[in-house]
This record gives sequence, structure tokens and C-alpha cells, in this order.
Amino acid sequence: MKRKLAVLLAGTMVMASLVGCGGSDAASTETAAPAEEAATEEAPAEEAAEEEAPAEEAAEDTAAASGETIKVGFAQVGHESDWRAANTQNYQDMFSEANGYELSFVDADNDNAVQLEAVRTFIQQEMDYICIAPIETAGWDTVLQEAQDAGIPVLIVDRSVDADPSLYETQIGCDMVLEGETAGNWLAEYLNGEEAKILVIEGTVGASATLGRTEGFNNIAAQHSEWEILDSQSGDFTQAGGQEVMESFIKSYSDFNVVVCQNDNEAYGAMDAMDAAGITYGVDGDVIIISFDATHDGLQYTLDGKINCNVECNPLQAEFAAEVIQKLEAGETIDAVTVVKDEAFVAPGITSQYAVTMTQEVLDGRAY
Ligand code: AHR
Repeated sequence: MKRKLAVLLAGTMVMASLVGCGGSDAASTETAAPAEEAATEEAPAEEAAEEEAPAEEAAEDTAAASGETIKVGFAQVGHESDWRAANTQNYQDMFSEANGYELSFVDADNDNAVQLEAVRTFIQQEMDYICIAPIETAGWDTVLQEAQDAGIPVLIVDRSVDADPSLYETQIGCDMVLEGETAGNWLAEYLNGEEAKILVIEGTVGASATLGRTEGFNNIAAQHSEWEILDSQSGDFTQAGGQEVMESFIKSYSDFNVVVCQNDNEAYGAMDAMDAAGITYGVDGDVIIISFDATHDGLQYTLDGKINCNVECNPLQAEFAAEVIQKLEAGETIDAVTVVKDEAFVAPGITSQYAVTMTQEVLDGRAY
């Protein structure tokens, strides 16, 4: 226990860092920033850590210093989407035995109770670190307090929580509000003043990915009196959910020209529902489709012109979690927040200041 408490003391948080892929303010072609780059940017913090004698002493008491493997418990959301599968694989690859870790992985299957139970089990098992990709933002204070009382540092990954930040070490993930704003800004640019009758298939209720993308898109929609959001329902980030919601929308609304799907899998389901109803979509169709995630298959649909705009959410985040853990092991200061940056992509024939126009080359370079 002494070791864990020492790591907590050493892990004084500093300012947020920004790492990863291009942003929404330009059609950036940057790719996921390597961890080394982030580390370079954080030189002052590292220097500060070096000056702190207590932190150095704490570092001597870490698993890494004693040559032990580092035990990491990962309470994952579930397996609801292609994005999630890529994210899980990324963590399993990074936190391998070969890399000096022992990973305990729990797939919570989108069930809050299962996820909370997984964290409590990790506490009982005396993990060195716990990573939580929270299904929902709410309900975390008690179990985070339990982890802190047990001296186990917690990393909140992918999504965010609304708990007291002093209860966890850091939060690593994409800026979901910015993703929503990018989608809205792209739509405004594309429509150029034309009317929009919009249907939204949201993600899981209460998830920060859902809340953020909704907030961001609504921020832009509020600037456009020619837009009307007809309806907004949860498809739970699944293909089946997307299809079900779209089928119900089609029954209720005969006049719409934009469907916003808050992830790729929902977009696949929505496309199936529109195919069955004889509704055309994409660059040559009647309905504009916006999606999020930009996974390989989602980008294939974008390249094919079926999805007009696909806003990335980069699932390759484990290297940033590993970097935080290594810094804590070394007694260095860490960032309170790491924002993994995203790009957006549009179908061939569309040019945008907010997104990269899809090509086969871009698709070939997509690892997930
Ligand atoms: O939190 C990230 C979101 O969760 C991804 O957009 C979605 O595919 C996943 O299920």
C-alpha cells in the first residue's frame, strides 16, 4: 500500500496537454501524435518533477523500480461498436506482459452495475492502477473514493466523469464537444444557407460521448434559424440501435434531409433502414449522413460517398495511459487532462475547411 500512496503523492497534476490527430479548425492532415512528442512538450513538468526530492523517493518504491510487472485493471464500456473493439485491442496490445504489465480486463457490456463491480474487484485485487472507460458520466464519486482510500491511482479514459477530479489522477480522451461542433460547422458550410430538417441518432444516454457531441452540434445549430432538429433518440452506439431508431423515424417523419448518427455503427443501421424504405442518402442521395468515429468501415462508406461527413474519434489512446503510468512510476508530474485530437473526413467531391477529402490513400492508412 505504501507504494501506491507514494505514487499518488508523486502524481501532482499539471496543465492539460493536447495530443493526437488534426483539429476541426482546419483540414489538418496530422496523424496521431506519438507519445514521445507529448513527452517532449512536457519538458518543464518533467524538470519540475526532477527537482522534487519526495517524488524521487516515491519513485524508488514503484513496481517499475523493483522490476515487478505493473498490475493494471481496465473496466471497459463493452463491445458495442467497431470503435470499442479497436480501443480494447489497443489496450491489450499496450498493456502486454512483454511491455511489463499484467492486464486484468473486464467488458462491462454497457451495464453500469457490472462496471462498478469490476472496479471494486480491482480494488480488492490490489491493482497498481485502474483504468476506467466510464459508460456514463454520473455515479462515480463513491467508488473513486474507495480506490483513493486503497491508494490505487485511477485513470479515467475515453469518456469523462462528473466526479470530483481530486478522486482520480487524469482523464485521457477526445474532445466530444469539439467533435459535435466540427460536424455542425461542416454541415453549415455544406448547406450554405439551405434549410435542414435534421434527425439525430444519439449514443448511449448519459455517456460523455453522447452529451458532448449533442452539445457541440446544438451549439452550431443554435446559430442557424434555417435548421430544425426534428427528433433526437438514443441508438446506444450500436448498429441494431441505429437501425431501430431510423425505422421509427421513417414512420414518424416524411420530410427530412439530414441524419446525424453519433457513431459509425449507428450509421450502418440507419443506412440499412433507409435502404429498406427506398430512401437515398450520401452525396448522390436525398439525405445527408453525418457520422462519428471514422473507423475503417466508416471511412470506406465515406470514400464510397454514402456517408457525407465522418468526424473522427481516435480509439488509439492506450499509449497515453501507459505514458501516464510510467510517469507516475518515475515520480514525475502528469497532466490533469490529455486531449486526443481528431480529424474529420468528407466524401470525394466535397471540399471543406473543416475536413479532409477522402481518398483511397487515407483509407489505406487507417489502422482500425
Ligand atoms: O466513447 C467513444 C464512443 O463510444 C465511440 O464513438 C463509440 O463508437 C463508442 O461506443
